[in-house]
Amino acid sequence: MTKVSVIGAGNVGASVAEYLAIKEIANEIVLLDIKEGYAEGKAMDLNQCATLNGYNAHLTGSTNDYSATAGSKVVVITSGIPRKPGMTREELIGTNAGIVKSVTENVLKYSPDAILVVISNPMDTMTYLCAKTSGLPKNRVIGMGGILDSARFKYRLSEAIGCNPNDLQGVVIGGHGDTTMIPLTRHASYNSTPVSQHLSAERLEQVSADTMVGGATLTKLLGTSAWYAPGAAGAALVEAIVRDGKRLMPCSVYLEGEYGQSDICIGVPVIIGANGWERVVEYDLNEEEQAKFKASADAVRNMNDALEL
Ligand code: APR
Repeated sequence: MTKVSVIGAGNVGASVAEYLAIKEIANEIVLLDIKEGYAEGKAMDLNQCATLNGYNAHLTGSTNDYSATAGSKVVVITSGIPRKPGMTREELIGTNAGIVKSVTENVLKYSPDAILVVISNPMDTMTYLCAKTSGLPKNRVIGMGGILDSARFKYRLSEAIGCNPNDLQGVVIGGHGDTTMIPLTRHASYNSTPVSQHLSAERLEQVSADTMVGGATLTKLLGTSAWYAPGAAGAALVEAIVRDGKRLMPCSVYLEGEYGQSDICIGVPVIIGANGWERVVEYDLNEEEQAKFKASADAVRNMNDALEL
């Protein structure tokens, strides 16, 4: 039995739960929300998809009763308010910090051994808050941002090259923000050849710029932040944990000297397995990339300063 709980049954939370069920990553899935009846409704709706999609996962909904989440292997935190058009992730900080802190405390009362996946924005700051206040070993707190940004990067690359996105390798590191993320174009490849062999420097620059505003572009179109790719990215991370995948995924984790940074959670490539994030993979960054990473860390740290720890 693998039990996974998702806190916040809104767009992203419900999407994570749906992918967890469809891919049978967990067979017991709990959705919890503060809104009366909301999680129960989403869970019932998803249970009614079982025979249509051919899965045998069972979903339970709960209105703020954390006892329903007891014994979860992984808990995904999506609760918070989403970004509205024109609003930066940074502006979300005050409200979402209060929510994430109380959710973490409640979750750990019932699932003291859980690995926590943080999706609520501003994600790097919420992950840092969780890492600093939860008392958990650092490996059990993982911020999900870079997996989504990397998927968006590969989508943009595939459009530019005109190829199957699954034949691309590409990683985005740094903060999960429009101005702080760093698509590593120099390291990206298409069927083992550098993408610079397939795209002009100018086009590659455009791919990078479009990737960075990936979230904001969708927020403008949808009137709220996106959920399919964030949900799929959250589920992919949970899958690597519960199946002990040892997958390389860029995630926001607590650094102690890696990439020249300490006392911060920021996106770096890590190996994900049954113990959470197991080690940081150090890429060989050139001077320009190192400078961008440092600037990104400075911006994330600046936001962390707004936290009352
Ligand atoms: N406890 C439980 N659930 C809560 C709490 C709380 N304290 N506070 C808010 N929620 C719930 C809301 O009731 C809502 O159903 O969190 C849910 C959030 O869902 P949406 O408003 O649909 O937001 P969503 O698009 O899912 O985004 C969630 O993920 O990508 C990030 O920026 C995004 O921080 C946002 C989060």
